Amino acid sequence: MTLYFNPASPFSRKVLILLHETGQTGRVHLKPVNVTPVNPNPEVCHDNPSGKIPALVLADDNVIHDSRVILDYLDHQHVGNPLIPREGPSRWRRLTLASLADAILDAAVLIRYETFLRPEEKQWNDWLENQSEKIARSLSYFETEAVTELSARFDIASISLASGLGYLDFRQPDLGWRSTYPRLASWYYEISQRPSMLETQTPV
Ligand code: BEZ
Repeated sequence: MTLYFNPASPFSRKVLILLHETGQTGRVHLKPVNVTPVNPNPEVCHDNPSGKIPALVLADDNVIHDSRVILDYLDHQHVGNPLIPREGPSRWRRLTLASLADAILDAAVLIRYETFLRPEEKQWNDWLENQSEKIARSLSYFETEAVTELSARFDIASISLASGLGYLDFRQPDLGWRSTYPRLASWYYEISQRPSMLETQTPV
């Protein structure tokens, strides 16, 4: 299998973390690509018409995207405990937490595009503020309602939030989220010691 990815992309990192957690790194050839909404990669577009990464090309040339679908696919390809609960209330709860974490990734990446790609005079401050507020609301929910659940196991929800927090450290180092969300900070400190997190750190 071949994975189109970018080392800075938190969506790519989710896939890399899951590959490590499930012992599948040796099954995937990593193909780094530079992709932005204004700079599509022709090879990626050929395999994934949306032009987005990550995208996973299977041995039979079928292509799987986006990160949620790739995680689901790869989670069905190993024999250990599933990282996405297969059924019952825990399935919907963990997927919902993962979705909320993905909202943080989405907003943080959109902020990056707006501030890095768009000329300064065209930047839309209200829009940027609302993306930041989305991140703050989501982190606040994790801090007050979900940190105990997160600590219970390392799975799709934890992987998604861990990628988001790592990306905030990378692209918004001045945000200082640790002082506002101390329980999340201590959860993140602990899970950051996992080999899957250390091996997939975003290069600075
Ligand atoms: C970034 O450089 O922040 C980035 C790169 C690829 C995808 C998303 C974000």
